[in-house]
Amino acid sequence: MLVTVLDDASEMAAVAADRVEAVCATTDHPVLGLATGSSPLALYAELVGRHRAGRISFARATSFNLDEYVGLPAGHPQSYIRFIRRNFTDLVDLPAEAVHVPDGNAPDTHAAALAYDHAIRDAGGIDIQVLGIGSDGHVGFNEPGGSLASRTHVGVLTSQTRHDNARFFDGDLDQVPTRCITQGLGTIMESRHAVLLATGEQKARAVRELVEGPVSARWPATVLQFHPDLLVVLDRSAAQLLELADFYAEVSTAGSIAR
Ligand code: GLP
Repeated sequence: MLVTVLDDASEMAAVAADRVEAVCATTDHPVLGLATGSSPLALYAELVGRHRAGRISFARATSFNLDEYVGLPAGHPQSYIRFIRRNFTDLVDLPAEAVHVPDGNAPDTHAAALAYDHAIRDAGGIDIQVLGIGSDGHVGFNEPGGSLASRTHVGVLTSQTRHDNARFFDGDLDQVPTRCITQGLGTIMESRHAVLLATGEQKARAVRELVEGPVSARWPATVLQFHPDLLVVLDRSAAQLLELADFYAEVSTAGSIAR
């Protein structure tokens, strides 16, 4: 794991985009793992800008989102399929049929989850996985207490996560779904490269556990300490509880990470 602490959002987006671009350059048919939430938005905007500047093409890429709510009406603006199309995939040359998001309205969601896991394997696995982190330490929608080796599955959201995400549903908790389909931690751990973004003090505790805590199902993101190539990109607020924050900041100031 490499941890970089940066001062501004555009710098964070540039470092993360450099990572995505570098991994995409290593393969003819890159397989992207995509996250939703506010954390990766600046990264997606940066990648769209680079695409428009003719620097990067996704024409031969495939994407797999991390997760989706179960039971939102088709076309709901807060569904993750709509989110990723609106903020990234429709804005670049990634073919629509190559964009994959779990089907939260499948008649059999468990079967849909299993099929999704197989589809990732059939595509050759994920080259670079974009990640955020929940304030309760979830990645994807892998909430505390689950298996650290889980595959794509149907999960139940914690009330913390539903409260956190109510801002996307007019602040109305009742509108936030209670279940999801999410790539499992075992699935996420098979990605060859990964970049995780986190900003703000509300993520500081989860980030501390992720980077410096003991690996535990209480903080699911901690399993990423075993990931072979994870870049963690933080702002100072998200990094504020790290014991070695000064060291990570020194390293990133030296400009030796990812760029
Ligand atoms: C959401 C998503 C996660 C995301 C996390 C953080 O619930 N399922 O994939 O990383 O919570 O969201 P945000 O970036 O908006 O803080």
